[in-house]
Amino acid sequence: MKEYKDYSLLNHNTFGMDVKAKRYVEYDSEEELKNLIPTLDGEVLHIGGGSNLLFKGNFEGTILHSAICGIEELSTVNCQLSTVKGEVLVRVGAGEVWDDFVAWAVERGLGGVENLSLIPGEVGASAVQNIGAYGVEAKDVIAMVEAIDLSNGQKRVFGTEECNYAYRQSIFKNALKGKYAITYVTYRLQKQPVLKLDYGNIRAVLGDNGQHTISDVRQAIIDIRNAKLPDPKVQGNAGSFFMNPVVSREKFLSLQKDYPQMPYYEVEGGVKIPAGWMIDQCGWKGKSLGRAGVHDKQALVLVNLGGASSEEIITLCNTICKDVKEKFGIDIHPEVNLI
Ligand code: EPU
Repeated sequence: MKEYKDYSLLNHNTFGMDVKAKRYVEYDSEEELKNLIPTLDGEVLHIGGGSNLLFKGNFEGTILHSAICGIEELSTVNCQLSTVKGEVLVRVGAGEVWDDFVAWAVERGLGGVENLSLIPGEVGASAVQNIGAYGVEAKDVIAMVEAIDLSNGQKRVFGTEECNYAYRQSIFKNALKGKYAITYVTYRLQKQPVLKLDYGNIRAVLGDNGQHTISDVRQAIIDIRNAKLPDPKVQGNAGSFFMNPVVSREKFLSLQKDYPQMPYYEVEGGVKIPAGWMIDQCGWKGKSLGRAGVHDKQALVLVNLGGASSEEIITLCNTICKDVKEKFGIDIHPEVNLI
């Protein structure tokens, strides 16, 4: 276990905010976490890789971080989870780097997570945030989530149904927000992977020889992401800053009359409109306000142009929301957690 007072969070948030936590504790096991619980007082925030948050200032409470590691294939004999033929259960420590797990799976020919290659962050957060990209969401592969109740140290195992997964949503972000620390996530992977190539330009990037492997898909996704998304090590950012809004069919049809080229996705309960496209249409792509900018290759991503304060990022966020509302009559909301 590691513990620090007045600890700089500069290396724990990809937006690159130089803020401090009053107390910062990194634990290595469920036992260590349980022992820590009675010592927690005041505000507690559990972070992963810090790739989906924006600190508004110093954090006057305790920040917890999991260093529970390990990737283990579970024997399906004596396991409480049922599996179908060709399925493999893999239990991963919440503190593992997400993309290290994806690489592990792809190296072994186990399919299911290759479309989620290169998403920043850690395994625990994949289950909180229901990370998603290129036609796959974490919920599609999560079999079980193990967590510790931060009020009493009791362990609880959540089946996928209990996690209330939806687009970038879960019970851990809503009804149980801040109440549990995820310690392990078990995923269902496939020995005979079925490739998911229908999103955007994956097929075009792969070429058309038809004989693709999950390793080829991983490489294609890495190439697409590298071409579009800024590297947080070079330019502070937290990936998509906004969620894509879902509008009613009526609203969609009336917008489509004015914007026939508008991209959209039919989803349960309405039609999803890419916020990045709307922000782009408002002329924000590649523009900036102070030291906060809009990425020039993907308008959904706000970037720290160097030394930006959180106020500057939030001012840019609010201005963009106002412009999108004025032009399209649609409210967009941050995906990034503002702390
Ligand atoms: N578009 C524009 N201009 C832009 C950005 C997008 O016209 O500046 C258009 C694109 O041409 C495309 C559509 O909008 O027709 C959607 O764009 P894209 O495929 O890049 O995806 P997105 O909806 O903007 C979402 C996720 C990303 C994920 C991609 C790929 C959210 C909030 N974001 O972005 O996730 O990588 O799909 O699946 O759902 C993240 O969460 O941090 C993230 C990067």
